[in-house]
Amino acid sequence: MEFEFDIHKIFLEPITKLDSTLLPQRRPLVSSSEAEKQIMKVLDDIGKASAKAQRLPAPITSASRMQTNQHHLYILKDCTPKTAGRGLVIGFLKVGYKKLFVLDRKGSHIEAEPLCILDFYIHESLQRHGFGKELFGFMLRIEQVEPQHLAIDRPSEKFLSFLWKHYNLRAVIPQVNNFVIFEGFFRDRKGKR
Ligand code: ACO
Repeated sequence: MEFEFDIHKIFLEPITKLDSTLLPQRRPLVSSSEAEKQIMKVLDDIGKASAKAQRLPAPITSASRMQTNQHHLYILKDCTPKTAGRGLVIGFLKVGYKKLFVLDRKGSHIEAEPLCILDFYIHESLQRHGFGKELFGFMLRIEQVEPQHLAIDRPSEKFLSFLWKHYNLRAVIPQVNNFVIFEGFFRDRKGKR
């Protein structure tokens, strides 16, 4: 996704992590007020693109939602020389902890607070090029979580296929909410919420 400002001046790393402050760890090369304005525009636009791709009635990611929630958003930019100009945003992944009642294989309700995948989007022209895997793998390392310990909010068919292909996550434990968990969710959760 292209913007009318220079992506490389606000996101200095290939993958930038944002929280509710919307401030990247590496300080942008434009003034703080300009950076905030530009980052808000990026978040609103990628949120809309993701909602459109998932056919959601409204975006679930926006700058204001990021500011009012304790979510982490990882944003991937294109670092290849062909976009050496103003740069491109390739996609994003949003995660957050949520208190959930989850059903185990025996049908017992268990209270847990897993890291949840809340929104995930790679631009249409760049899907199936490994960018989703790059972003997801980065998030797993930073959040120090195993893929089977995640809960996924309403995964799309593409995302289910992605999880099966890259992480062997296939056997779903049926739930009564919109979240999906996989075999292995309850195993080795020591120290996990
Ligand atoms: N059809 C079916 N499977 C797909 C597709 C597709 N069009 N695109 C990606 N996948 C799956 C497949 O398993 C694929 O492997 P394959 O090509 O061998 O079949 C694998 O993902 C490819 O892996 P990556 O290239 O690393 O994934 P990608 O960069 O495409 O990112 C993502 C995956 C984020 C799901 C992307 O396809 C996308 O943005 N889709 C549209 C939006 C979406 O569905 N987001 C998830 C919503 S659910 C949620 O966020 C909780």
